[in-house]
Amino acid sequence: MKLRHVTSARQFDIKTLQDLFAFTDKIKSGKYNNKALSGKIMATLFYQPSTRTRFSFESAILKLGGSTISSENAAEFSSAIKGETMQDTIRIVDSYADVIVIRHPQSGITDLAASYSKVPVINAGDGVGEHPTQALLDLYTIFEKKKTKEFTIAICGDHAHYRPHHSLSYLLSLYPKIKIIYVSPKRLSMPKELREHLKKKKIHFVETEDFTSSIKEADVIYQGRIPKEYLGAQYKKYLGKFILDKRALSSIKKNAIIMHPLPRVNEITPDVDSDPRAIYFEEARNGLYVRMALLLSIL
Ligand code: NCD
Repeated sequence: MKLRHVTSARQFDIKTLQDLFAFTDKIKSGKYNNKALSGKIMATLFYQPSTRTRFSFESAILKLGGSTISSENAAEFSSAIKGETMQDTIRIVDSYADVIVIRHPQSGITDLAASYSKVPVINAGDGVGEHPTQALLDLYTIFEKKKTKEFTIAICGDHAHYRPHHSLSYLLSLYPKIKIIYVSPKRLSMPKELREHLKKKKIHFVETEDFTSSIKEADVIYQGRIPKEYLGAQYKKYLGKFILDKRALSSIKKNAIIMHPLPRVNEITPDVDSDPRAIYFEEARNGLYVRMALLLSIL
């Protein structure tokens, strides 16, 4: 599959992932030292805060010889504040850049952007929608560590609003031997569309509020932030419901891996960081290599 716009994890198939991850391996091991994107310009338009995603995308293109033009606070520092629409912004920026990376609070907006853009558009998080490149680096990290496509993953937190859970689920649904345990308070369970998708693909999944027994069973524990920005006053009610702390480490599998897209609030306490099963900082580092491979594939 030739990659152009990347707006949803739903667009990927197994072969495309295999190729992308093989390329990522090569880059990570230092065997790819080509400034293949020299002369290419990436625009990053971020209407929501970001540390890992924007820096890793920018670092990725710089390492490949390209350059970046950036609005780290596009809501305030682009013409959006004057009332310019996304359509118009894209029709301007696509003349200045070879690829546009967008993070925005409105779900679905990168599809709209892609429909207007002459150059590839990448979704770096669209509201409560998706975060496909996060899912790519997560799945790459899981396969790298577990070396199998048959495992149980416990995804914990807010499945209603937390976009990394949505995109990761879509990628996981390509692999029939994976079991997914969705741990969340009932009110924060997954969107209907995702549940329907998993059923259609005959994925083995369960939904539960039982954090303690789920993490015991899991080969991969995937924690997520409770996103305050979408929950308003209810936020405090859910904060601190599922905390993985040092005490919990004795109950999980010896060869489990503990992941988190980061930033964390209190879902994983800092005393877990030194445990060899805690791989979230390595996961974030893999974001650089996966995004390098993705940019190379697209451009
Ligand atoms: C995530 C995001 O923005 O969706 N962050 C990230 O890119 N690693 C998770 C979050 O919002 O906390």
